[in-house]
Amino acid sequence: MAQIDWKTLGFDAYRTRTVVVSHFKDGKWSTPESTETFSFTFDPFAQVFHYAISCFEGLKAFRQKDGRIAMFRPDQNAARLQRTADYLGMPCPSPEMFYQMCEACIRGNMEFLPPYGLGASMYLRPLLVGMHPQMQLVPYPEAVFAVMCAPVGSYYGAHLKSCAAVIPGNYDRAAPKGSGSYKIGANYANTFKPYKFAHEQGYAELLYLNSSTREFVDEFGSSNFFGIKGNKYITPLSDSVLPSITNKTLQQVAIDLGMEVEKRPVPLEELATFEEVGGCGTAVVITPLSHIDIKPVLEEAEVTRSFRFCPDGEVGPKSTALYKRIRAIQDGEFPDEHGWCRFVEAE
Ligand code: PLP
Ligand code: COI
Repeated sequence: MAQIDWKTLGFDAYRTRTVVVSHFKDGKWSTPESTETFSFTFDPFAQVFHYAISCFEGLKAFRQKDGRIAMFRPDQNAARLQRTADYLGMPCPSPEMFYQMCEACIRGNMEFLPPYGLGASMYLRPLLVGMHPQMQLVPYPEAVFAVMCAPVGSYYGAHLKSCAAVIPGNYDRAAPKGSGSYKIGANYANTFKPYKFAHEQGYAELLYLNSSTREFVDEFGSSNFFGIKGNKYITPLSDSVLPSITNKTLQQVAIDLGMEVEKRPVPLEELATFEEVGGCGTAVVITPLSHIDIKPVLEEAEVTRSFRFCPDGEVGPKSTALYKRIRAIQDGEFPDEHGWCRFVEAE
């Protein structure tokens, strides 16, 4: 077992042992290879460097209470990768190949799989990048698909605690009819600069509005948005947000907990009416928000409005219940009634 302090893990590109790799060339995928060499060889003209032909997925594996290893909803990640690859005009591994490579990655990194009960998990990062050397703007069926992993705690720190977000008046995430709903690397590139300014000012997250009219809530830079009003779980319906698997899961969990679910456009004004607000995604599961500020210019001091939800550090009761249920299913402490866990045989 690796010497890791599982309780203090964050969300970092931890160097594990094995990466599983396959190449698509001449119309077929090579037999996946588990390698301990943490490097790829690329032609300098490769699509990925010049035109950002690159996409990825993120899913978690858990050591459950009874000792079994479960990947959480990998079928959803395999399907989303296919959708993204189609958008980029890239070849994509079949769902079966996707699972097999994820499983091989887990098996090749068993010493980095956190034990049950410490809140940590293994984050799997499947990555698909365009390899073909070219100058022209045309898709080409040549790619590398790799699955790597890292042991992670939670994205923002060891415990569920609320933090602040900012709506930046001078940055957008996704264009109308653009790439916002696909998990392409390029969608994240344009968040680095606003994240830097947001973090410097103590905001953990950026909340983006729909870029055409700026009247509706879209999503956070790294997670979907949900709001709680009474017994309702409300989440935006928008063509430019990433279809989050965690959000989909939370909607079902909310129903299971006797809540109502509304998926519809969420006007910015409605922020004033939510009792709880959070971000949701694989890395964080849930990030409860203490408050959201509107800043016309992120780099400047002026805050024109502040929406308050719960005191700094505290978490609302509905967010807590949703979080606990989803985590209990992932850890094998609550029955997996919807068949979300796919078990991995540790050879
Ligand atoms: N939205 C964005 C922009 C993300 O990067 C993520 C993270 O993957 C999500 C939403 C949440 O998606 P999921 O729950 O599938 O991880
Ligand atoms: C995830 O939640 O899985 C993510 O991919 C978030 C990451 C972009 C920071």
